[in-house]
Amino acid sequence: MISDGYGMAIPKSGIAMGTVFENVAIPLQGGVGVARASGPPSVLTAGEEVIAHHTAHPIHFETGGPGALAGVNMRAIDGPRGQFDAAAVEAAVRHPSRYSPRTRLVWVEQTSNLGSGSIWPLAKIESVTAVARRHGLATHMDGARLMNAVVASGVSARDYAATFDSAWIDFTKGLGAPVGAALAGSRAFIDEAWRSKQQMGGSMRQAGIIAAGGVYALRHHVKRLAEDHANARRLAEGLAALPGVRVDPKTIETNIVFFDLEGALTAPAAVERLLARGVRMGAHGERTIRAVTHLDVDAAGIERALAAAREVFTGRAA
Ligand SMILES: Cc1ncc(COP(=O)(O)O)c(C=O)c1O
Repeated sequence: MISDGYGMAIPKSGIAMGTVFENVAIPLQGGVGVARASGPPSVLTAGEEVIAHHTAHPIHFETGGPGALAGVNMRAIDGPRGQFDAAAVEAAVRHPSRYSPRTRLVWVEQTSNLGSGSIWPLAKIESVTAVARRHGLATHMDGARLMNAVVASGVSARDYAATFDSAWIDFTKGLGAPVGAALAGSRAFIDEAWRSKQQMGGSMRQAGIIAAGGVYALRHHVKRLAEDHANARRLAEGLAALPGVRVDPKTIETNIVFFDLEGALTAPAAVERLLARGVRMGAHGERTIRAVTHLDVDAAGIERALAAAREVFTGRAA
């Protein structure tokens, strides 16, 4: 069920969301940012600590939200491609001490954005959440791009979410809705989340139109994510053939391509030149560029992007 600011069910939304998560209550959110604000903090107390990968979205892109909204420490841990393993969680859990924050939550980002859209294998999720449970910690899945993982791996959203206490998905990004996300968890968790959402000004009235976009996205834009993944792989293969560009196409699992520049051209200068040719990518620091495929970019668009990249990185047209 998706519900509006009054907690009223929006017709048919349950059917669509039921295909994603099982046994959940889902308040409609304005975006994952709002879901975040009204989600995990409702299980957290100021001074507690969240274990997350050092590339996790709340650490880099949420304007200090975990500190500002929940008063929590983010304990940033390491591991390849935006993922950590059970041993890393075990090592990061604090022993009770009058000096240390209390560890409270383990946070997994599926897929990992800064891990170039990498997919957490189900077995890794299960081992990480098992360690958390053994220590009495809550677990949360930031599934902003969960459906990309589902389509690429064939593992269901239900299975990915099964060992977490809470999870959310975003209807925007690859799914293509203009706004909206949904948070899932136990009834008690969602009741608390509602209170936090209300406190932070997250109430919505005529939310049906937003839910409609989400329902449409779940019905029509999930399977086609495979096209985005194929396009991302093709983009990476084309980029890898250009001089001064480093990317391993075999590492591209979903719709995000990070590549590094080895020549004199910096990433900010390169993305400006690409934009002048109608191709939008993002610079991450001086040497790294991020490209994302989605439903507004088709296979022909990828070829145009590669032609533009060839001009920018070689100084020559095809
Ligand atoms: C992994 C991850 N989590 C959360 C968010 C926040 O999503 P929204 O912008 O819909 O609030 C993003 C957005 O880019 C993201 O990449």
